[in-house]
Amino acid sequence: TASPEELEERILRAKAALGDRVVVLGHFYQRDEVIRFADFVGDSFQLARAAKDRPDAEAIVFCGVHFMAETADLLSGSDQSVILPNLAAGCSMADMANIDQVEDCWDQLVEQLGTEPDADGRVPVIPVTYMNSSAALKGFCGRNGGIVCTSSNAATVLEWAFERARRVLFFPDQHLGRNTAKAMGVPLELMPLWNPRKELGGMTEQECVDSRVILWHGFCSVHKRFTTAQIEQARAEYPDVRVIVHPECPMPVVDAADESGSTDYIAKAIAAAEPGSTFAIGTEINLVQRLASQNPQHTIFCLDPVICPCSTMYRIHPGYLAWVLERLVAGEVVNQINVGNDVAEPARLALERMLAAKP
Ligand code: 13P
Ligand code: SF4
Repeated sequence: TASPEELEERILRAKAALGDRVVVLGHFYQRDEVIRFADFVGDSFQLARAAKDRPDAEAIVFCGVHFMAETADLLSGSDQSVILPNLAAGCSMADMANIDQVEDCWDQLVEQLGTEPDADGRVPVIPVTYMNSSAALKGFCGRNGGIVCTSSNAATVLEWAFERARRVLFFPDQHLGRNTAKAMGVPLELMPLWNPRKELGGMTEQECVDSRVILWHGFCSVHKRFTTAQIEQARAEYPDVRVIVHPECPMPVVDAADESGSTDYIAKAIAAAEPGSTFAIGTEINLVQRLASQNPQHTIFCLDPVICPCSTMYRIHPGYLAWVLERLVAGEVVNQINVGNDVAEPARLALERMLAAKP
């Protein structure tokens, strides 16, 4: 196996040989050994935009997880290839909703609620998928009048949906859906959790009719680790601490924090704070550690004392990055992510609706 220095040299050499023909995108959760080679680093919304912004590049090497690379493929030009350095870099939350289950859920909701618009022209229900989902689910939303959201625009997207529908079916992340809808004033009792093993998701017909947001049962295994006890402890140790968590955290954690927001929100809040501030952050450890080293003027620590990386993001090892870049230099595209046309067309529609919704 190659040493870190050898890998660095190989990656830099391949990037220099490729020049503007390749763009390397990196999600905030990637480890530093990968991030240092990224041409653009961002949250999942910014990376989706970035994939659109470089039509001149022949290849987009996506250092993130599978659904992000699929999104880049949907939004980039048809002659560009999107490469995921390790095809095993998935997202356990995205895997918690599959197209068959969602179709089945939808059929039951439509049977129960019909499709006729009400007097205000709003349809009974609209599907909203979190970016952290397969292209097939984005395609499902595109085909059924729905839309995609990310953690940085979930409230905007829910507003968009409520202008068009009385209810929202939100998948796969129950926490982002619940936290966002609650902040918009939707009562918790009108946000039932859909259980795919039960008839009508476990709701009574009346609960279905009364519902405003039907939540899928997915969650992020990294963010569900954060607890209110950790927040209490941080406040006990640092009375001035500012607690910021990602909205994939469970509702009591978001409620106990001072703020919640996407990875980019967290980075910007820290950059804008008075020097000497103290932050306890509830998100993935690679980002928290990077923010701490980039901002020595503050005290920044992760709420979870046990190191908790996103294990699938971590599968993008620099060795894979070196390999895919070197194959490109040799004229070969490996690990390409290619969304089939029948899914791509409606999925693109759902993504374009998101990009067009007011920021
Ligand atoms: P962001 O949209 O904040 O980048 O988050 C993506 C993600 O996977 C969080 O777990
Ligand atoms: Fe998926 Fe959670 Fe990892 Fe984000 S942090 S990519 S939601 S498993």
